[in-house]
Amino acid sequence: MAEINGYIVKLGGSVITIKDKKYKTDKETLCRIADYLRISKPLVIIHGGGSYGHYVVFSIIQEKTKVEDVDLPRISHTMDKLNHEVVQCLLKKGIPAVSFPPHSICQVINGSIVCSLETVKEAVTRGLIPVLYGDSILSSNGIEIVSGDILMVLAANELGIKRLYFLTDVDGLYEDLETKKIVRHLMVSKNKQLHLDIRGSSAIDVTGGMRAKIESLRNLIPGARAYILNGRKEDHLYKALIKGENPSTLIEVSE
Ligand code: IPE
Repeated sequence: MAEINGYIVKLGGSVITIKDKKYKTDKETLCRIADYLRISKPLVIIHGGGSYGHYVVFSIIQEKTKVEDVDLPRISHTMDKLNHEVVQCLLKKGIPAVSFPPHSICQVINGSIVCSLETVKEAVTRGLIPVLYGDSILSSNGIEIVSGDILMVLAANELGIKRLYFLTDVDGLYEDLETKKIVRHLMVSKNKQLHLDIRGSSAIDVTGGMRAKIESLRNLIPGARAYILNGRKEDHLYKALIKGENPSTLIEVSE
């Protein structure tokens, strides 16, 4: 796949929603990030579920009474509401955002998530900015939750994008949770197991938090660079999106 010059960004659910408030968007943070995106023009934007997606999945798990078929409409409808808020803010800032709901282009086939990204690619070549998000998708056993992190890897590999930014609500990957010392640089590879004590997130997180994020990055094309930064910090946004620097954690993928 030919490499495209540009980047893909994930707006973590913990940044664009208010974690402990059910179905509540953090519009102020979202629109502040959009100001940076307007200037630095990502190729694709992906967002997480935060207090929308994780909350609705958690409620369904707790109820245990629902027939599985009901879950996809309920989860996708909830994520659709958050997506509406995200796209609305991007459009207000003049960003040509267009939604691609993953439940309509992805499914699990023989245990692997497969997405039809042809139209997404075409949209990028026409200067539009596709917006995807963590969602529920069909699988042979019913449904599966696909995280925005997994979609980042699938879309980056498929489109040949080698620069990825993950906006989170922490300052990067912690080397030590007590001292909060940040890992500045980490090499990962598909062929090498990770030997790092990465804990998951403490909030409700049905898709595995930081550990799952780093694990999924091992599947990126060699040469890819993924940055983990704090999307609530202006200096992180400025350094990463405007100056192209590493404000926090850089993860490089080797053969
Ligand atoms: C979660 O996506 C999607 C659902 C729970 C439906 P992510 O796992 O990418 O969301 P965040 O960024 O952690 O909130």
